Amino acid sequence: MTAVHDAFMTAAQTAAPLRLRVAAVRADGCDIRVFDLYADDARSLPAWTPGAHIKLSLPGGLERCYSLCNTPGDDGFYRIAVKRETASRGGSAWLHAQAGVGTQLSAGAPVNAFPLYDSEHPAALFAAGIGITPIYAMAADLLHRGRAAQLHYFARSVEHVAFLSQLSQPVMAGHCHFRFGLHADDVAAAVAAKLTLLPRTTPLYVCGPAPFIAQVREQAAQLGWRDADVHFELFAAATSAADTSATQDRAFELVLQRSGVQCMVQPGQSIVAAAAEAGVQIGTSCGEGFCGSCQTGVLEGAPDHLDSVLTERERAAGHYLMPCVSRCRGERLVLDI
Ligand code: FES
Repeated sequence: MTAVHDAFMTAAQTAAPLRLRVAAVRADGCDIRVFDLYADDARSLPAWTPGAHIKLSLPGGLERCYSLCNTPGDDGFYRIAVKRETASRGGSAWLHAQAGVGTQLSAGAPVNAFPLYDSEHPAALFAAGIGITPIYAMAADLLHRGRAAQLHYFARSVEHVAFLSQLSQPVMAGHCHFRFGLHADDVAAAVAAKLTLLPRTTPLYVCGPAPFIAQVREQAAQLGWRDADVHFELFAAATSAADTSATQDRAFELVLQRSGVQCMVQPGQSIVAAAAEAGVQIGTSCGEGFCGSCQTGVLEGAPDHLDSVLTERERAAGHYLMPCVSRCRGERLVLDI
């Protein structure tokens, strides 16, 4: 899995930025805008697979990741859906207020840290809120290919549903199940009810806010799912813990065991950056601790987990960390890389 991510990242990181132009924009659901982005030069756009995202470079040095929402037949452009977040750190607010037809943007090539895996078993896809964006592309891909799949979409109301008309088309409608306006406890109960009915070999794909993903993962684990069959991606960094942790102010020693490298991670510097300075590239995607693509084994030391991926149980076990954001509570950290 890691090798696949690294291969995607190598291609994405070495390519020149893509020059894109907004060719169409429309409202689709409450506070959601859908943008169709075409190449603004003679280059054809790199291929992508369901679950992939692009990282847009926005004014003010902002970089934001958006899942591609194209469906089969939507070729030659990238479609993204952007929800205007009330606590926007600038990305969604700018795209809603400033970006229109003709706006030029630059982006990295598509990266897929949340791919569909071949399986003989029908997939179950769970989405909450704007977490529908990669799940929609995945469900459309599976169902248009005639594969059995079911989509469970949790939203505040029908007005908050994105891609409602597409999800209502015959090829998808019978496979989509909506739940509206549930409180957190009711969401947990609804998820549990769905999971209880599924074979434990069902591949699960989950996207949404951190608590939603945590609920699905915890319940799947309790019901007997293997971790390898539960795939998930947060749609945004859930917390700003990485910005506020006290360990940001302290340097620590980093040992990359298999690479035979030893270096210091300076205050405010990421493990990924320190490793790169020492000549070791760690593949990343979101760079903000929410996609899981950089997950690395811990051999020694006490991680300060500042990601939004690992569950409390996984943090307590201390076997893995996300080196794009996590740090060390002590003086020394040894990683299996
Ligand atoms: S690159 Fe996404 S969690 Fe580290």
